[in-house]
Amino acid sequence: MRIAILTGGGDAPGLNATIRAIVRRAEEYGWEVIGIRWGWKGMLDGEYISLEYDEIEEIIREGGTILGTSRVNPLKRKDGLEKIKENFKKLRIDALIAIGGNDTLSVAKELHKMGLPVIGVPKTIDFDLTTTEYTIGFHTAVHVATEALDRIVTTAKSHGRIFVVEVMGRYSGWIALYAGVAAGAHYIAIPEAPLNVDEIIKVIENRWKKGKNYAIIVIAEGVRIKGHYKEEVIDEFGNVKVGGVAEILAKIIKEKTGIETRHIVLGHLVRGGTPVALDRFISTQYGYLAVELIKEKMFGKMPAIVNGKLTAVPIEDGIKGLRKVNGNLYEFAKSFFV
Ligand code: F6P
Repeated sequence: MRIAILTGGGDAPGLNATIRAIVRRAEEYGWEVIGIRWGWKGMLDGEYISLEYDEIEEIIREGGTILGTSRVNPLKRKDGLEKIKENFKKLRIDALIAIGGNDTLSVAKELHKMGLPVIGVPKTIDFDLTTTEYTIGFHTAVHVATEALDRIVTTAKSHGRIFVVEVMGRYSGWIALYAGVAAGAHYIAIPEAPLNVDEIIKVIENRWKKGKNYAIIVIAEGVRIKGHYKEEVIDEFGNVKVGGVAEILAKIIKEKTGIETRHIVLGHLVRGGTPVALDRFISTQYGYLAVELIKEKMFGKMPAIVNGKLTAVPIEDGIKGLRKVNGNLYEFAKSFFV
């Protein structure tokens, strides 16, 4: 038995922990494991490396992915799926574990529909997959963003400044919401709610009236600011380029209040580096379960946390649209915008 692993889309802390767990569990069954390089690109080109537990046991604490990743979409390449099918044969792959977000899993789903033995594993720092309550990387991203916000607070306070802090979150505001609440931000702007500049100004004015002469505004990169948004598709999955909203919002706030307003983009920083314990733990569980699913021939499934429990669900359940921050949760966060 020879199984293959690939990681696709943006890298996320915890991917290596998953790879490590897959290799360990597969070796227990006496299976051989290969790692496909650069996501779906490697499945098209047939590029891979051998994986052995003794050589990779230390990677549980490493960020990124030792396999490399890409945003190559086989569905957009001529005969892409057929080429992958051929490479299943050429590389003697008995089962493939595709670790990724919406984009990667949508390809996994198509391959499974063609009858190929594929398992998915949900990964995204954005936490925008459906059904599963855990995606690899999200908790580390929140932790890093929270720590950064805590640091911004001390400098903002010392100078009496407003800081607008931009975090990743292309289509959903999960990182902004969790980190913003955790760091006691004074306003959080997310893509799920139309940006209300007047509300932000009101919060700032109130703070200055109370003599609290600093403010921290968190904004998810996917927030659109009227008159400042130009849609530009940047990858083969049709994802749009985002980023830069903090700078625009900082300018608007400065103009309206006259108070010195700075911005900072945390960007890829929240995605890099060592995973927090929870990401290592659940990523390890996901890797272990992915191998069990192969053993049971439960192809087309992915490990998931549902109602707090580790389980397996069809891949398509994870990609039924995008998980969005709901109104109630945002209302809860809003009660701290003071
Ligand atoms: O999809 C995860 C994500 O981290 C988004 O939050 C972000 O917009 C995007 O990836 C950035 O992708 P890239 O690293 O390809 O620019």
